[in-house]
Amino acid sequence: MLQVTALPLSELRERTSEKWREYPSDVLPLFVAETDFPLAPTVKAALQRAVDLGDTGYIASRTPLPAAFAGFAERRYGWSPDPARMRTTADVSMGIVELLRRVVQPGERVVVTPPVYPPFYDLVAEAGAEVLRVPLRDTGTGWELDLDGIRSAFEDGATAMLLCNPHNPTGTVHDRDTLVALAELADEFGASVVSDEIHAPLAQPGTGFTPFLDAGEAAQRVGYAVVSASKAFNLAGLKCALMVTADDATTAVVRGLPVEVEWRTGQFGLLAATAAFSPESDAWLDGLLRTLDENRVLLEDLLATHIPGARYRIPAAGYLAWIDLTALGWGDNPARRILTEAKVALHYGPAFGDEGRGYVRLNFGTSPEILTEAVTRIAALVDR
Ligand SMILES: Cc1ncc(COP(=O)(O)O)c(C=O)c1O
Repeated sequence: MLQVTALPLSELRERTSEKWREYPSDVLPLFVAETDFPLAPTVKAALQRAVDLGDTGYIASRTPLPAAFAGFAERRYGWSPDPARMRTTADVSMGIVELLRRVVQPGERVVVTPPVYPPFYDLVAEAGAEVLRVPLRDTGTGWELDLDGIRSAFEDGATAMLLCNPHNPTGTVHDRDTLVALAELADEFGASVVSDEIHAPLAQPGTGFTPFLDAGEAAQRVGYAVVSASKAFNLAGLKCALMVTADDATTAVVRGLPVEVEWRTGQFGLLAATAAFSPESDAWLDGLLRTLDENRVLLEDLLATHIPGARYRIPAAGYLAWIDLTALGWGDNPARRILTEAKVALHYGPAFGDEGRGYVRLNFGTSPEILTEAVTRIAALVDR
């Protein structure tokens, strides 16, 4: 395992990505899902080699990425997807839209489970479909899919579901039984499930992450997974994702996509993702998971000490914390006040759906120093 430590703030401020350019330099940015860690050495070497060679043309029609992902899935999840049933595209969002366009007729409804990654609402609309909301159920200790609500949605004519596995923003790792039951429901109603698994490499050890396509035979029939190395390895700007299927009919759908969908894959993204999914990157990813584990616990301590009114449940996956600030009385969208008065940028809770009123989403993929400073700044508002 490697030690993975975030860059110092002075270097981060030199970055030019959205996280570091959206707000002025007196704001600590903990909003968009980019991380503050250096690249994994394997990824850096692959990109460096490409720069040295000027290897910046179009992606090849046969690439090592599907086999690299299959190896990763086998090592990390005990799942053996078939590289012949995968195709690349520019990013997870594009994969979702292209797949929904094929499996849903214009105007049909797609189940989404708020609070959920805000662009899901837009992606369904971009595919010409309509969103049917079936909120997650709050169990008192976590969140889970509302299978009865999803059954009703399918009974009412929804023809697909956009699953977030693991779930953003709650960090929920859906358990295998739930996913098996979801797949059987979809199968019963002839519906499709598009499973966004972008946060899957960041499921913490022992949390039992299950790839949707590995959740029984029905899942193989109804499911499409869209996967990427981009969240764990911070490669979003390089543009590469994989669409994965597990049976002949769904594979035919993916093979039927225009070749342009594949050609939009970034060459740097493809090279970086291939390196990220290689066995040589496992020690770095393990180190990252350990750092994130420390951060998710540190955040709990910081909130308990400085903002006891905050309600936070340690996420099982990822680097996003879903924090209920309702008790502070800062209104439906507390991130607004936090931005203007504490100079900390968090993601707006209500953007994730009505269930996000009073909530903020905080990105803890950073250093303990930045995390501590952010919570300290927010805590100063509590006493005002
Ligand atoms: C659940 C989820 N899906 C998709 C995306 C966007 O992925 P991409 O940049 O590959 O479209 C994100 C980004 O944070 C995400 O959290």
